[in-house]
Amino acid sequence: MSESRNVSQETGQYTRHSILRYEKIFGQDFVSTGGLAVVKELCAMLDLRKGMRVLDIGSGLGGAAFYMAKTYGVEVLGVDLSQVMVDIALERVQQREAAGVRFVLDDVCTMPLEEASFDVIWSRDCFLHIPDKAALLKKLYRLTRPGGQILVTDYARRAGHVSEAFEKYFTKSGYHLLDPEAYGAHFTNAGYLNVESSNQTSRFVELLHQEMEMLQVDRDKFLADFTSEDLDYLLRRWADKLGYCAEGSMVFARLHGRRAA
Ligand SMILES: C[S@@+](CC[C@H](N)C(=O)[O-])C[C@H]1O[C@@H](n2cnc3c(N)ncnc32)[C@H](O)[C@@H]1O
Repeated sequence: MSESRNVSQETGQYTRHSILRYEKIFGQDFVSTGGLAVVKELCAMLDLRKGMRVLDIGSGLGGAAFYMAKTYGVEVLGVDLSQVMVDIALERVQQREAAGVRFVLDDVCTMPLEEASFDVIWSRDCFLHIPDKAALLKKLYRLTRPGGQILVTDYARRAGHVSEAFEKYFTKSGYHLLDPEAYGAHFTNAGYLNVESSNQTSRFVELLHQEMEMLQVDRDKFLADFTSEDLDYLLRRWADKLGYCAEGSMVFARLHGRRAA
């Protein structure tokens, strides 16, 4: 794998502590908004069938991979750039029945993968870390089987002006954000057909509220493992995201496309 682009080293965002702290608010095995609830909604769009091959990019702790393999009998290859994420995902493979799931440590931008070998390319809240979306989408198109699909959720921004506070937030986090239309254009330019780039911000806001409420309900459980500073950090970060969405700067995008059969 490429040593030069380890997200956790670059931003300090994915240390074991920070990952397990995020998991407390996103839900068991997840580091993405809505956790399992959103995975179920997305899977319903895909017509997954036994034996299909899925590439999960930025697979994190493996929540989506475990769910898809167990529920639909698909084979999932999870790829993640963060050593700690992959270590934890592999620990969880040991702790449960996880047939059909494999996790590898690598950078999707540079790793060799077999052309036209995946029925579904899946990624949740990972592409924000990747600056060159055009090159990424071209590569993913080549990996998609004829007739196969791509489904992505990601943080995005409104076109044009965004608030200074939001700009500071995503720059400091090392995120590379596009507006949904520009984002969708990369899918179309790569060759995907019937590209749907949908603004899911209202669902995102609903989920952020739910996650904050759950964390406060489970406050004592959280404080058994983490500190009150950790709790304040998460609540502050969630409140900030709600503020960026309310002012219109932050957008949550869902993108879907298909390779011609
Ligand atoms: C916000 S987490 C989401 C994890 C998971 N998709 C989930 O839903 O819980 C983003 C993940 O993308 C990974 N990532 C970022 N850039 C990557 C790249 N170029 N190749 C593979 N994984 C990458 C990070 O290490 C991190 O685990």
